[in-house]
Amino acid sequence: MKNTLKEKIAHDVVEEEIHHVNNPVLEPPMIVKNYLNQVTHYSQNENSFFFHDGSATVEVKVVSNEIIRVRLAPHGSFLADFSYAVANSDQHVAVFKFEEDEQSYRVSTNTVTCLIGKSDFLISFQDRDGEVYTEDHSPMHWEENPDFGGYYVYCSKTNEEHEAFFGLGDKPTHLNLRGKRFTNWNSDTYSFGFGQDPLYRSIPFYIGLKNEKAYGIFFDNTFKTYFDFGAESPEQTSFWSEGGELQYYYIHGPKMIDVVKRYHELTGTNYLPPLWALGYHQCRWSYYPDTKLESLAYEFRSRKIPCDSLYLDIDYMDGYRCFTWNKRYFPDPKGLISKLASEGFKTVVIIDPGIKMDENYWVFKEGKEKNYFCRRGDDYFMEGHVWPGRCQFPDFTNPAVREWWGGLFKELVDDGVAGVWNDMNEPAVFGRGTFPNDVRHNYDGYRGSHRKAHNVYGMQMVRATYEGLKKLFHKKRPFTITRAAYSGTQRYGAVWTGDNVATWEHLRLGALQMQRLSVSGMSFCGTDIGGFSGNPDGELFTRWLQLGVFSPFMRAHSAGDTREREPWSFGEYYENINRKFIELRYKLLPYIYSAFWEQSRYGYPILRPVLMLEQESGNINREEEFAFGDKILVAPILRQGVSTKRVYLPKGRWYDFWNHAPFEGGQEYDVETSLETMPIFVKEGAVMPEAPVMQYSSEKAIEIMHLKVYHTDKKVNSFLYEDHGDTYAYESDVYAEKKFTVSGDQGKLTITQQVDGLFKESYSDYEMVLYGLPFEAKSVRVDGVITQLSTHTDGFPKLVVSKEFKNIIVE
Ligand code: GLC
Repeated sequence: MKNTLKEKIAHDVVEEEIHHVNNPVLEPPMIVKNYLNQVTHYSQNENSFFFHDGSATVEVKVVSNEIIRVRLAPHGSFLADFSYAVANSDQHVAVFKFEEDEQSYRVSTNTVTCLIGKSDFLISFQDRDGEVYTEDHSPMHWEENPDFGGYYVYCSKTNEEHEAFFGLGDKPTHLNLRGKRFTNWNSDTYSFGFGQDPLYRSIPFYIGLKNEKAYGIFFDNTFKTYFDFGAESPEQTSFWSEGGELQYYYIHGPKMIDVVKRYHELTGTNYLPPLWALGYHQCRWSYYPDTKLESLAYEFRSRKIPCDSLYLDIDYMDGYRCFTWNKRYFPDPKGLISKLASEGFKTVVIIDPGIKMDENYWVFKEGKEKNYFCRRGDDYFMEGHVWPGRCQFPDFTNPAVREWWGGLFKELVDDGVAGVWNDMNEPAVFGRGTFPNDVRHNYDGYRGSHRKAHNVYGMQMVRATYEGLKKLFHKKRPFTITRAAYSGTQRYGAVWTGDNVATWEHLRLGALQMQRLSVSGMSFCGTDIGGFSGNPDGELFTRWLQLGVFSPFMRAHSAGDTREREPWSFGEYYENINRKFIELRYKLLPYIYSAFWEQSRYGYPILRPVLMLEQESGNINREEEFAFGDKILVAPILRQGVSTKRVYLPKGRWYDFWNHAPFEGGQEYDVETSLETMPIFVKEGAVMPEAPVMQYSSEKAIEIMHLKVYHTDKKVNSFLYEDHGDTYAYESDVYAEKKFTVSGDQGKLTITQQVDGLFKESYSDYEMVLYGLPFEAKSVRVDGVITQLSTHTDGFPKLVVSKEFKNIIVE
């Protein structure tokens, strides 16, 4: 919709009346949408350009070669340039230029041009060839908010007929968001359903795909925001907010994966987790008393089912008071945790933001004395019921409160706790959902009501936890997860999708939510394996566990009123399959850890929808297969009773993970898949590292690294990352980043290796098995020296080479 004359007149009249009315207005003032109209003049300050229309100003700022930020100040003054999501909105500013012709102003980098229409204030973004990626449907507009001050702010873009939209965090729906409308307002949504909105997280970032070219829009606004992808009107995609600033980043592609990478440049990447956090986690509400944990540990080890960590849900606390122990259930926490640790288990404990109002409880007393709890508009404390009963809540948007909170973990850390699970931090309040809007927050000195701080409350809680643990652990990496999140939370924690249900529909939802979270900047994600509420049967649990192997965060969890949910709970038949898949996770750990390094260091997402591998419109609706890292494609079984699955393989050659048979991509295959197996494919040219099966990730040093090498006619790079697994020495270059390059033809295969970093592995050799050779290997030269081939147990050619090798030629 364009700025109509009628609205313009209404706007002028209202402004007129306001000037002359001194008496209280009896009728509520008419709310009018004000639209930018035309650019009257402009000014420049370094990499920022300011365009004016009367009192309104728009800033267009060159952030990097591919990122441009747009902000609107309806009455000339911008809000403070502060963001919880974006650590650095002034990146390495590339070369840029400013031009003007009769119709428009043009702010260009080497890659992208932002055009601002002189006569209509419409903004568009083009690539170097003049192809428009996205353009305004109507000029940016706003509405005065008489109750709270500030403005409702709006932006709407024109939809191309076949344009598709992705991202937006944990929305429980199909990957393509076209035709739907969403709200971002962190909500505790126990047993949520397909399509329910909003859920626990707010990630106001989407990727548009137009003519097979991608761009991103990140609307960095923490208030309640809305996104409409052609639901109200098919021709437009709009986003708006109930307050704050209209401030968004245009992120250029044209590849989807680069949009995600650049979104990470703005909002940060996942911290590099300790290796153990990538193993299998066993959780339940709740495992208690201490003997229960001991017997769980015994079951895992005696049944030889690998597991790295056991969880304590709320019942470990004394009356749900955070940072305390229920001494009846856990008389000697330190003793228990060290006993578990001696068997290779890390202990992770839950923590909630609600602090019980109890004058004899030190945390409450301290928080009260220091004035750290949130207060209402009229200065009453924010009080509400959660697990412990009546509670007050720390204001995590206050840096001093975060510091205090971080320190509260001291005793738990001294007891040996290795990770913290941050829950109920939307924040959840029984009965009324969350805090009322008038609650006040420090907002790192920029102040705000709960309208502004709600969506970042959970993020700031896990930030406080993460930063506190980091200090307390000194040289070890902590592990944290959080339920609520805002853009940028990946810097402080992993996420899980909250209280799902033990149904096949939820299993499918989980696969969608994880892919969506991953393209929205939250790669370290997982679902409650088996479903939180309800009872899965053996088949559903096993299929879920199979998806779990390819979930960046792999944890089984269940509600207290359900039947037990351990890998052996469904009888021996299922237990054997479950063991096999958990073992698979452990074999893949070197590959998974390398994918986390790629995420943490370079910003590549861990789960990648098929569309991201092959950006063609025919793939827009493919959502049941996805890549896990850059070399594995999986098609988890998401339906009951299935024994074959139709799987699409993107172009190029793929190898069946189980029997190494080659498949030509660019087509669909019916893949046999009994419950004992699932479709997994490896990309041609891959060098897949495999660790021996261990009962926990650090059980023993790797004696020889197993590398599976897959033939290709192309030239393909693979990466293997290794370090201590739990220290920060990698920050001082004590890591090994190995680049393997495989190239070949019908009679030859060459493998080269380049190593970067100072880390020294525990092993000295690689055992390499060669798959898919289209010729019979007769000679092998390793760095020029003839070397013997032998045969691996699976019948494929094998050689053992020094880990220092540089070049291998197989002919
Ligand atoms: C919430 C969490 C769930 C946890 C429960 C008890 O429902 O989402 O994971 O088990 O609270 O703490």
